[in-house]
Amino acid sequence: MSDIKKIKDEYLAKINNNHNLDNLNQIKSELFGKNGIIALEFKKIGSISANEKKQFATNLNLIKDELQIALNKGFKTIEAKEINSKLQNEKLDITLPERNFNQGKVHPVSQVIDEISSIFSEIGFSVEEGPDVENEYNNFTALNTPDNHPARDMHDTFYLDKKKEYLLRTHTSPVQVRTMNNGKPPFKIIAPGRTYRSDSDQTHAPMFHQVEGLHIDKNINMGHLKGCLNYFIKEFFEVKKIKMRFRPSHFPFTEPSAEVDIGYEIKDGNIVIGEGDKWLEILGCGMVHPNVLKNVKVDPKKYQGYAFGIGIDRLGMLKYGINDLRAFFETDYRWLNHFGFDPLDVPSNYRGLSR
Ligand code: PHE
Repeated sequence: MSDIKKIKDEYLAKINNNHNLDNLNQIKSELFGKNGIIALEFKKIGSISANEKKQFATNLNLIKDELQIALNKGFKTIEAKEINSKLQNEKLDITLPERNFNQGKVHPVSQVIDEISSIFSEIGFSVEEGPDVENEYNNFTALNTPDNHPARDMHDTFYLDKKKEYLLRTHTSPVQVRTMNNGKPPFKIIAPGRTYRSDSDQTHAPMFHQVEGLHIDKNINMGHLKGCLNYFIKEFFEVKKIKMRFRPSHFPFTEPSAEVDIGYEIKDGNIVIGEGDKWLEILGCGMVHPNVLKNVKVDPKKYQGYAFGIGIDRLGMLKYGINDLRAFFETDYRWLNHFGFDPLDVPSNYRGLSR
């Protein structure tokens, strides 16, 4: 018994004098390891006479607890010392300049597409998409624009192969063909997206954006077209009244066809949409040509309707006072920062489509 008492005193002294983590861990394994001193002492119990056994075991347990408590205290002291020295040495340098934090902005074109989609979805249009790379059939032939039709030249098409089978779509109208080929009437869709024509100046870029609209049902007429566009323009520009003018025009895929102008005036150097005596062209539209309906296996005697194609970039330029279309696509960080939208800033006519 005196043996173990000696061990205890020796180790208590070691523990109390040691304020180093490695040493303390070493002591811990010497004492409490699998073949440590305490384990060996417990093994002795088997060879001790019956009347001493109980006393021996009780003592051993007491010593074991005492050493354990001292050891834990030792670890705690070291931990506290380390935290204190960290607090002392690692002072926060508040003179250091903060790190740059750049928040992204929503591009005005994405913003305008969101606004347009949410306005049309409110009146029952769903949103469709089509690929930028189209075949010549969907872009032209199915839309009643056969080979050698002058409209093909008008579009300044980017062809992708010598045979002219594939091209970058020149308008979003091929989504009409795709939608009607893949479903059954009625159809009520819009299709926003990128379009391409070989053209570039202050108001034209070789890549630009359109939104197609298509509404086909049993009794749809030009009055519906007018009402729908009038509603959309008022909602988009957030005005109560809008001056609109339907000018007769020609598109191979609509009959009759029209181009739509909206009234505006310049007040204090700013463009004001809705009133005034100046006109600005913003879209093409018309009643879908019976040949187009036949091409997509819709019976023109039962179904008819309207289609329109709106220039998205033009709308964005007007609403947000941006005067050079090319700036949209130059990815100038300063420009994006100025004209871009805060992702969390919800516009007043935004109705909850997800970005
Ligand atoms: N696709 C035509 C264009 O790009 C616009 C349009 C669409 C006209 C639908 C009529 C109907 O010029």
